[in-house]
Amino acid sequence: MPFLSDTLSRVKPSPTIAVTNKARELKAAGKDVIGLGAGEPDFDTPQNIKDAAKAAIDAGETKYTAVDGIPPLKDAICAKLKRDNGLTYEPAQVSVGTGGKQILYNALMATLNPGDEVIIPAPYWVSYPDMVLLAGGTPVAVECGIENSFKMTAEQLEAAITPKTKWLIFNSPSNPTGAGYSWDELKGLTEVLMRHPHVWVMTDDMYEHLVYDVFEFCTPAQVEPGLYDRTLTCNGVSKAYAMTGWRIGYAAGPVELIAAMRKVQSQSTSNPCSVSQFAALEALNGPQDFLAPNNETFVRRRNLVVEMLNAAEGIACPTPEGAFYVYPSVAGCIGKTSAGGTVIADDEAFASALLEEEGVAVVFGAAFGLSPNFRVSYATSDEALKEACTRIQRFCAGLS
Ligand SMILES: Cc1ncc(COP(=O)(O)O)c(C=O)c1O
Repeated sequence: MPFLSDTLSRVKPSPTIAVTNKARELKAAGKDVIGLGAGEPDFDTPQNIKDAAKAAIDAGETKYTAVDGIPPLKDAICAKLKRDNGLTYEPAQVSVGTGGKQILYNALMATLNPGDEVIIPAPYWVSYPDMVLLAGGTPVAVECGIENSFKMTAEQLEAAITPKTKWLIFNSPSNPTGAGYSWDELKGLTEVLMRHPHVWVMTDDMYEHLVYDVFEFCTPAQVEPGLYDRTLTCNGVSKAYAMTGWRIGYAAGPVELIAAMRKVQSQSTSNPCSVSQFAALEALNGPQDFLAPNNETFVRRRNLVVEMLNAAEGIACPTPEGAFYVYPSVAGCIGKTSAGGTVIADDEAFASALLEEEGVAVVFGAAFGLSPNFRVSYATSDEALKEACTRIQRFCAGLS
């Protein structure tokens, strides 16, 4: 009898965490490495949020709470969804978990049966397919190429839907591409979903506030109110509020689904950290004025990286609407040999030679389900980005 479960054998460890660890190891061994793999802002959590957490500790808010969130936080989430997205939810329709990750996982655990299919536009956030597999479902990846800015078309969605489809996982702006769907683009998808009433939408709005230039964020239940009863709107404080370590995510949706998710959470982790919930309460209710300057910094970095990567031989880098990632294609480098003698057979070989020869850590595209590309996280200093892109340019110039 094998000790480990069959389910686990279908799941791979997170490649993004693997790259971050590898870069950390090389750094610790004295190598000059620039890590562009991390999926978190380099800003500190705003002071008012930290103060709220300290006050919560001093006030003795250090005990178990209601499983899926303290009432004031649920109220704040309802207010946020109204304010930012024009969506009306009651606290009973809201669930708070340990990060956006647990929220998505709870929803999949609560709803998937063997054979159930989940449509995942690729490139995707690395955890989606594995979470679906852990929950016993079948991920159905749909490749959305660079020619349509990595966005799914209505035709692609229509073609992917079968009688077994339970969910579409939708993520805009996207990790790993930064691509954001405009209202009209999203409307194209929601029109398809309106024709298939058995398909639910799990929308991961984690990067909602990290949008640039004239782009305006929108979310499925807002674009098509007819989907309200089969949409789970997921979000969290990790990215916009620089709170990745606090571990608070949330979702709003139909009461029965939220109750089912609560059941999963009650038998796994119980409530998310009490102190973090008070911090998240301040994040949502407190001043939002730090978002604009943070976004100015992100836009500046995005523009710098896009320009420098496009100047590298063999790389094509679209300009995304949001998040803090770009997803350049290395199609022009495939088949060449690096200065260090590595044949660039695919994007994994590209990323690994780049790390070995130039000390730049990026995540290869195959990890996100669309090749040949790599993901750069530009949530790091301008100096580090300039140096990293200079090294990438040198690496590409050395290919022959
Ligand atoms: C698209 C997307 N969804 C969800 C998450 C998870 O967020 P959290 O750290 O709140 O679990 C991430 C984090 O990288 C993400 O990129």
